[in-house]
Amino acid sequence: MGDIFFGVDYYPEHWERSRWETDAKLMQEMGIQTVRMAEFSWHKLEPQEGEYDFTWLDDAIALLAKYGIKTIVGTPSAAPPAWMINKHPDILPIDTMGRVRGFGGRHHDCQSNPTYREYIRKMVTKLAKHYGENENVIGWQPDNELGNSHFDLCTCDNCRKSFQNWLKDKYQTTDKLNQAWGTAFWSQEYNDFSEVFTPRITVTGENPSAMLDWKRFCSDLIIDFTKEQTDIIRKYAKNQFVTHNFMGFADKVDYYKLGELFDFVSHDQYPGGFYLPETATPHEKNHVLAATLDVIRGYKNQTYWLMEQQSGITGWETMGRAPAPGQLSVWALQSIAHGADAIVFFRWRTCAVGTEQYWHGILPHSGNPGRRYEELKTTMQEMLPLMKKMQGSMPKAEVGMVFSFEQDYAFQIQPHHKDLDYIGQVQKYYKALYDQNIPVDFISDKGDFSKYKLLVAPLQYLMNPKLEEKYMSYVKNGGHLILTMRTGVKDDNNLCMTDRELPGRLSEITGMEVLDYDCLRNAFVKVEYQGREYQANIWSDLMHLMPETEVMATYASEFYAGEPCITRHAYGDGCCYYIGTEPGEELMLQLMENICHGANVEKLADRIEDVEYMTRENASTRWLFVINHSDKRKEIPQITGYTMVKGKKMGVLEGYEVQIYEKLK
Ligand code: GAL
Ligand code: ZN
Repeated sequence: MGDIFFGVDYYPEHWERSRWETDAKLMQEMGIQTVRMAEFSWHKLEPQEGEYDFTWLDDAIALLAKYGIKTIVGTPSAAPPAWMINKHPDILPIDTMGRVRGFGGRHHDCQSNPTYREYIRKMVTKLAKHYGENENVIGWQPDNELGNSHFDLCTCDNCRKSFQNWLKDKYQTTDKLNQAWGTAFWSQEYNDFSEVFTPRITVTGENPSAMLDWKRFCSDLIIDFTKEQTDIIRKYAKNQFVTHNFMGFADKVDYYKLGELFDFVSHDQYPGGFYLPETATPHEKNHVLAATLDVIRGYKNQTYWLMEQQSGITGWETMGRAPAPGQLSVWALQSIAHGADAIVFFRWRTCAVGTEQYWHGILPHSGNPGRRYEELKTTMQEMLPLMKKMQGSMPKAEVGMVFSFEQDYAFQIQPHHKDLDYIGQVQKYYKALYDQNIPVDFISDKGDFSKYKLLVAPLQYLMNPKLEEKYMSYVKNGGHLILTMRTGVKDDNNLCMTDRELPGRLSEITGMEVLDYDCLRNAFVKVEYQGREYQANIWSDLMHLMPETEVMATYASEFYAGEPCITRHAYGDGCCYYIGTEPGEELMLQLMENICHGANVEKLADRIEDVEYMTRENASTRWLFVINHSDKRKEIPQITGYTMVKGKKMGVLEGYEVQIYEKLK
């Protein structure tokens, strides 16, 4: 987006006006080029119904512009004000327990509520008309982290009606609905669409087919809610971009579809978040951070922005650790290495009021620039010329990892095993690639598989003939494909497949069929691979092989000891691996190393603990990032054929140092 590479999230409305100019000056000195503002400020923009007051925002935009800083306007629909809620209490969402969620946090709204939607249309139209041609406004962010703060999506009567309409559109007749949901079970048939409920807490387990459609509906509702805003913005703001702050693997809305509404996607990255499991050592987290950035790049298959990059200790009621000197820069540079074209830090100054008093900004409460300010200033100044050159360049991955929201939904509904979750499983495969310094693209199952040497497709549980066909032709045309346990189990309605043994028609490429299985509840299984014994978890598929299929590993415990566990089958010009269990970490790494080798996939470097390698490239240039995630000095092999463009000393990475190398192609 032009020449903008660094920014901050700014809340001038939380501070005295007399401070604003000092902020603008400090921002300019630091290298800040843009701010995002106003995304929660409904009341400040419309203090009483129909009385709009944008003067404070006009003034802030103009003042910042004097210091060369452009604005991204957030629409305030994540925080409907008290006057509105009091006048129309039905805007408040109702959770699955049937309880009204009250005013006092944020996103206390029902996204299908027609009154609320009308208020939003009015507000966004006013804002877009007012700022759509303001040369100091470069872009827009409708709402904030759509899908967040909606633990249970709303189940009110409006949502019920919207859901019924959505179902009518999809199925036309209740006969079709009854069939798709398998309602013969427990007498759940519907005579009319108006009989369908939104899911409230039930006495016993819910209908998995109904729940899958409910999750799809909720995702579509969020998209529809957002599209109403982006349509208005685009009408009046023809030369400004529209983006949104996504949250990595968050699941409430299908980000591939949501991404279609935006010029580019943005992401909020909080590596030190106190929400990560307490036991996670830094190294355990690094691959999750990397995967999160890669999946963001995958949603539109293009470079992205960080709209909120951690700038200090995170915390609400409790807090995370203080980022060590250098660590904030490491995290920002990791975002850039994976494809960020701009980094906006959250937030400018640590807030003195409200819920986020301990979610620290670049400046501390006192407003005096300190360690974080100085560190990030240096980083911005060093990186600016490089960011200009790198803009639009992409990592080039030889491995694709299929990631699907629908598979995630299906496993949320029926995880099978207490330790199985779809995203966690995807990340386990990812880690084995990350640990070998092999770049990975996340790709939708509707994307183009053909550019990858190796395609990893864990848990392809919901299957349809079109997707089967895609996998089959990928392998036939020379691709190396990994399929795993729980593939081809269900159709798109979340009903079990019954025509053939698992994995259905895909058995033509896997060269095996699953005749039985074992869920490893409170147990694990031993697996023998290349003469060594390893641990595997969660699941054992018991299979029957076609004669030409190769056994790569066998079970070494349980009543099926000696039977095949991991197989390889040549098909057309390619081959398909089938992994009938969840390999433990050691087995996973070993196995993935061999599979990558077999597919001729290149590693960027041999593994050094806590050191990450990543590349970006465009038509003329390739950049190599080497990132030290630890505070320890690391010896690294000399990098030949490249020029060092950032870094202290070739061959040595200081603690929390990032080096960047450049090569003309
Ligand atoms: C993000 C959100 C911000 C702020 C931040 C810190 O999820 O977009 O508005 O709340 O977290 O909690
Ligand atoms: Zn509702």
